[in-house]
Amino acid sequence: MVCLGNICRSPLAEGILKDKLDPNRFQVASAGTGGWHVGNPPDPRSIDIAQKQGLDISQQRAQQFIPAFFDQYDLIYAMDQSNYSDLKALAKSPDQLKKLYLLLEAIFPGEGVDVPDPYYGGVSGFAEVYNLIDRACEVIARDINQKFD
Ligand code: 4NP
Repeated sequence: MVCLGNICRSPLAEGILKDKLDPNRFQVASAGTGGWHVGNPPDPRSIDIAQKQGLDISQQRAQQFIPAFFDQYDLIYAMDQSNYSDLKALAKSPDQLKKLYLLLEAIFPGEGVDVPDPYYGGVSGFAEVYNLIDRACEVIARDINQKFD
């Protein structure tokens, strides 16, 4: 799960997808295309909205996406088109590129919809972001469970 800072959107996506998959079978992680927040916990507004839904994401720490993740992970989800373009530029082969998806394609196929960056907005933005990510992860978890059944 990849966004820009790895403190608002992708930590939520990591926590939400993890919660929908068997931890003994699947590894879920998140990263940012940017490195400004490396080592930091998620934004308090993300921690709060997750907490309200019963998810504890407070122990996560931000990391920057490195090209090796294209080999370490089977699926890579970008939160918005800007993150998608940045990741696309880091892919070294068609096989790596095939692993890359825009997250909300799972619920709005072909529409190129972004998870909006909530960083500079208010708390309501985080509720909207949570909702969008949760709906997408529900579909993704179902697909993953079917594919690896
Ligand atoms: P995120 O939000 O990409 O969802 O983690 C942001 C967090 C920090 C910044 C931008 C977006 N920033 O510019 O520091």
